[in-house]
Amino acid sequence: MFDLIVIGAGPGGYEAAAHAGSLGKSVAVVEKAELGGTCLNVGCIPAKTFLRSSRLFRECREAAAFGIILDAPRFDLQSLVVRKDNVVGTLKRGVSTLLRNTGVEVLHGTGRLVGRNAVEVAGERHEAANILIASGSRPAVPPIPGIDGERVLDSTSVFELKEVPERIAIIGGGYIGLEFASFFHEIGTQVAVYEALPRIASGCDGDIGDELLKILRRSGIEFHLSCSVLGIEGATLRYQDSGGAPESGSATYILNATGRTPIVGDLGLEEAGVDVSARGIRVDSQGRTNVPNIWACGDVTGRHMLAHVAVREGIVAVNSMFGRPDRMRYDAIPAVIYSHPEVSMVGKTEEQLKAAGIEYRKAVVPMALAGRFLVEHVRETGVVKVLAGAAHGEILGVHAIGDLSSEFIVAAGAMIEAEMTLEQAGEVIFPHPTVAEALHAAILKAQ
Ligand code: NAI
Repeated sequence: MFDLIVIGAGPGGYEAAAHAGSLGKSVAVVEKAELGGTCLNVGCIPAKTFLRSSRLFRECREAAAFGIILDAPRFDLQSLVVRKDNVVGTLKRGVSTLLRNTGVEVLHGTGRLVGRNAVEVAGERHEAANILIASGSRPAVPPIPGIDGERVLDSTSVFELKEVPERIAIIGGGYIGLEFASFFHEIGTQVAVYEALPRIASGCDGDIGDELLKILRRSGIEFHLSCSVLGIEGATLRYQDSGGAPESGSATYILNATGRTPIVGDLGLEEAGVDVSARGIRVDSQGRTNVPNIWACGDVTGRHMLAHVAVREGIVAVNSMFGRPDRMRYDAIPAVIYSHPEVSMVGKTEEQLKAAGIEYRKAVVPMALAGRFLVEHVRETGVVKVLAGAAHGEILGVHAIGDLSSEFIVAAGAMIEAEMTLEQAGEVIFPHPTVAEALHAAILKAQ
């Protein structure tokens, strides 16, 4: 009998298993595909590897501004795929080593609950005192006629493209849509994004989302907002524009980026009595389901579909199941859209503060206030926005648009977690020259 069986070896699952292993528990993790899950194999890491290359390709075209003369650089998708596979392979070996070093047994196959304390894998029954479901999510398939066509890609199959498409139509202007819009645009594909809502990056602070839309449109990406996609025939998309007029757009491929759905089927959840719906497994702030000893973390809970949230949720669940006090805090979760430019955010948006009737002060400063931002970029722009309580100046939200903001947003998250005021945060010494100094400038301006 194991102390813990984890179903799913994505970031939430493998980190939780390793953590339990390092606490001296006997642990197994079940995985039907590859260690590392979506994030490592077909999500965060491959996408960021692709975006690294598209950025470099753009920078090569702008190299003369940096004093480097290059003759007609060309983009080679096949070589990029080799590099992506190498990066993924190295990280996957790292996961394997982590699990080995923490004494976690890997069970290959599809795991299914058989009762409250047992999991069946490849016809064998394994018992455990605790079970943690970390089965993740898969691309959502909206009810659009023709969405299952040959020319329609999703965030997994897009990595299998063999050549650079001439035109791509992206359905959805959220995380995945915007990251791939940047990638394809930079490698020379004509990109059109079709978004149902009147804005892109809808969870973002409004000012930042508007600025992102402006920058991406200016760069040459086409956006159709408030539009309804009616159907897909081959690689032609039929849609109703914001005024209700029927239109169509043709492309080489269509990318479905309309969200992700928790993987809850075939796990034996209903039979075990777990409270679950198509929106995910319901859990409390420590990852407990309604069934004693069955826990869940990450995308399968349908809350924040972010790898770093899954990791923390998994660790909180493990600590809780083994009697170590811990709980999840959801008020300071940093998130980054790795579009070019990047968007980084943590805490409340201005719209959330208004809706909650919270009085606030705000400051918005250009990224270019930081010398390092000008050193790093030729023509990019960006801003940092700080929101703080009106009376006491406690930092409530930080929102940034501009490359390298992903590297300093964690500092803003720590300030919110520590409930720092603008005055206290203003006393923090920021290294010079860094892009993070734009955050410091915004904090000082908001005082
Ligand atoms: P998303 O929820 O971020 O965006 C989906 C977009 O598609 C929304 O704006 C929605 O209004 C739109 N949409 C939905 N149905 C539509 C339709 N029929 N026609 C037109 N537009 C439609 O989901 P996305 O981008 O697919 O990403 C899935 C999840 O993966 C997200 O929850 C995100 O948290 C995570 N993710 C995180 C990344 C990161 O941390 N950098 C990168 C990629 C994904």
